[in-house]
Amino acid sequence: MELNYQTIAVERQAGITTVAFNRPEKRNAMSPTLHREMYDALTKLAADDETEVLLLTGRGESFSAGQDLKEYFYELKDSPKEREAIRYVSHAWRHQILYHFPKPTIAVVNGWCFGGAFTAVASCDIAIAAEEAIFGLSEINFGNIPGGLVSRVVAELMLPRQALYYVLTGDQFDGRRAAEIGLVTMAVPRAELMDKALEVARKLQAKDKLALRACKEVFKQVDLRGLDFEAAYHWLSAKGDQLTYRQKGAWIEQGIGKFLNKEYRPGVEAMPSERGARE
Ligand code: ACO
Repeated sequence: MELNYQTIAVERQAGITTVAFNRPEKRNAMSPTLHREMYDALTKLAADDETEVLLLTGRGESFSAGQDLKEYFYELKDSPKEREAIRYVSHAWRHQILYHFPKPTIAVVNGWCFGGAFTAVASCDIAIAAEEAIFGLSEINFGNIPGGLVSRVVAELMLPRQALYYVLTGDQFDGRRAAEIGLVTMAVPRAELMDKALEVARKLQAKDKLALRACKEVFKQVDLRGLDFEAAYHWLSAKGDQLTYRQKGAWIEQGIGKFLNKEYRPGVEAMPSERGARE
């Protein structure tokens, strides 16, 4: 599989695929080329059997300084057709492909993270930040709003009082604060960041792949909190039946069966012989 790019770097090792924004000299800002390359890479990796868990990070000191203010906005201001085309790709890789990626995804936020980069973080299932990483909704500082879906994901994830505060002021906040207000799952010292991400990735690799996919679909194919309880009950029943069909009943036969045979305890670990094995 051809995965050589100019603006991103892809590494696959032992089932864990790391995709890194790779324009450190431009603080990993998302240029049109980067958007096209992310679209291409994620499309291929979604169908790649060697990719069991996907990590998204940045090379150098930055996660990403958001949209490339020069190449994405300024240089395309008089080219509406080209702008529209790249806008679609920019949206599609984050909100259609990454958000619904068929395997678990982890954002590993190593440094600067601004504006449009929030949506890349938000589209990942789990986000782990360096405590030292710096986040900012800088749009107000250049007289704009957090557009695309940035305001939407900020409203979804961040505590409401904090969300509007950071939208209005453009104040920076660090990784620890990002965890406190819900933007990321956890923050760890930068020196421990990749080890922590790999630890979580390996934990996910030990789970049943079809069950992981179903857990994601339950949360991400519909607005789960927007369903009333009756609709949610039927949605979950249907997804549970679909999983049983896809697994040929394995969660009952093996998942519960092995517990009843005293082979493992699901309260403390994933079932033994089936660890991540089934497609
Ligand atoms: N778009 C395009 N180029 C960028 C971006 C960006 N978002 N961010 C940094 N760069 C470029 C700079 O122009 C500079 O290029 P040059 O060396 O060719 O002059 C290079 O990256 C280094 O930038 P500095 O500002 O010198 O780096 P520094 O480490 O001092 O500061 C910081 C980093 C804070 C990220 C700063 O570059 C910055 O404020 N960038 C803009 C952040 C931003 O507002 N992003 C847009 C969010 S809104 C949205 O995504 C829609």
